Amino acid sequence: MSPADNELPLDPLEDLDEWDDDVRRRYPPPTEQPTAGDKRPEGFRDYTADTRPGVKEFYRLNHVRQTVDFVKSKRAEYLPLARRRMGIWEAMQQLEALVDDSDPDTDLSQIQHALQTAEAIRQGGHPKWFILTGLIHDLGKVLCLDGEPQWAVVGDTFPVGCRFSESIVFHEFFADNPDVQMGEYQTRLGIYEEGGGLDRVMLSWGHDEYLYHVVRDYLPEEALAMIRYHSFYPAHREGAYQYLMNDHDREMFRWVRKFNPYDLYTKSHAPPDVEALRPFYEDLVHEFFPPTLAW
Ligand SMILES: [Fe+2]
Ligand SMILES: [Fe+2]
Repeated sequence: MSPADNELPLDPLEDLDEWDDDVRRRYPPPTEQPTAGDKRPEGFRDYTADTRPGVKEFYRLNHVRQTVDFVKSKRAEYLPLARRRMGIWEAMQQLEALVDDSDPDTDLSQIQHALQTAEAIRQGGHPKWFILTGLIHDLGKVLCLDGEPQWAVVGDTFPVGCRFSESIVFHEFFADNPDVQMGEYQTRLGIYEEGGGLDRVMLSWGHDEYLYHVVRDYLPEEALAMIRYHSFYPAHREGAYQYLMNDHDREMFRWVRKFNPYDLYTKSHAPPDVEALRPFYEDLVHEFFPPTLAW
């Protein structure tokens, strides 16, 4: 590590939730979007100007350090799933203890976000596997248990090994990503094939890809796509990287987009009653998962 790196705060966000909150601000619900008569019709698109410095620094670290080599090394480190065995509910409690040590009174906990997302899906009349996906979708954040920095756990995801789309938030920070010097990684397709499918594409490392591998034997493919791509905002909200997708991906992204509003717009300050809801969700977890999984 260079001396310059040592001077940087490793974790510039106040807590992991700050990225999720920032995404919510960047993509406000339709009712909060400015109308034609609004005095500042570009207010929400000018989001980068009033982004907190810590959030910008978080994106800078993420964009500079997520390289092909970095993603390969994290995949090799984590995807053998040989670090620990734990159940879904245990992972939920571990994450809660880890992530929510700051500001316990002012923000919702991880379990509350999980339950609010799941409950809104349940009220939408969706199938059990969809409700369960809402409950567990952020459990990959237990990467923090192994000391991973924020920029390697959360953040919008994007492919590495091909040109970075200009639709990625704070695209300018990629100028200092070492992969920009690698000609083969800077063409439109890079190391991938036209329409070759996202399954063959390496996305920046974070909680989505990790959890996908932990739960892939237990859930239907629509659920797995929601988990694996829920932070891939450049694709599911901005429409980028269509040329890497195949028809199956396009089919699955209908579900990713169906999931997204439940993740973003169900946060309220009326906390769900965790103890009252727990029996229903314990049964649901039990129906799909064994008592412990490999992480
Ligand atoms: Fe997430
Ligand atoms: Fe979430």
